[in-house]
Amino acid sequence: MALFGRSTQQLGQVDFDNLPRHIAIIMDGNGRWAKRRGLPRTAGHAAGAETFRTIATYCKDIGLEYLTVYAFSTENWKRSAEEVSAIMGLLKKYLLEAIGRMERDRVKMEFFGDLSPLSPELQEMCARTREISKHYEGCQVNICLNYGGRDELVRGAMAFARDCVQGRADPDHLTQEQFGNYLFSRGVPDPDLIIRPSGELRLSNFLLWQSAYAEFYFTDVLWPDFSKEELHRAIAAYQGRDRRFGGV
Ligand code: IPE
Ligand code: IPE
Ligand code: MG
Repeated sequence: MALFGRSTQQLGQVDFDNLPRHIAIIMDGNGRWAKRRGLPRTAGHAAGAETFRTIATYCKDIGLEYLTVYAFSTENWKRSAEEVSAIMGLLKKYLLEAIGRMERDRVKMEFFGDLSPLSPELQEMCARTREISKHYEGCQVNICLNYGGRDELVRGAMAFARDCVQGRADPDHLTQEQFGNYLFSRGVPDPDLIIRPSGELRLSNFLLWQSAYAEFYFTDVLWPDFSKEELHRAIAAYQGRDRRFGGV
């Protein structure tokens, strides 16, 4: 298949007709990227935000159905107030731009995580982005913000317990599919491929439930240096895997 004037062969053996439906990325390594350049960590976050723009736009262009990115974890509040506020500021900037471009891009945006500790302004922007884009049918980008896999599971358990108490659910009959509907990711298929740049070999509380049968791709590249070529390498690696889901 010819894509943007280049053949499949030249793009690291990616078969664009058989892309994973859902790619999830742990956008890690911004701080180290900045440190290597003698810059403040916040400069790394700004560069990482640029990379996110590039990669999200590219995923939309190649026809990916779902992209989920880890932007801020429930544990990231441990960082300095200065760093947290710089990350929130970048998020605000991104959402303002996204809202301005929505009609053109038609990317459906969702947020996974408890948004209530964010500033009222940011919460309002997330709600607005979600509302405007909810009828779009192209690529869906899920931004994990104040997200933690364990937090998501505990919230799901609490919501299920409330439904049981109110007679809307039966504690003796709960399927995995029904429980999935209590999670932030309700309605979204599990990620096929989870990418973690920056050399760390861990999930750091990302998509604990949804990652059950995901394929993993780790690279030492730091997130601000992550490129389309790197994404091609990850997809090509994924396409070479044999997914068995417990079968033979
Ligand atoms: C990822 O980059 C961004 C967030 C966690 C918000 P880091 O800030 O964790 O970068 P490193 O891991 O310190 O290099
Ligand atoms: C995971 O990265 C969270 C995000 C990328 C948003 P961290 O940098 O917080 O993870 P650890 O602390 O290295 O496990
Ligand atoms: Mg990190």
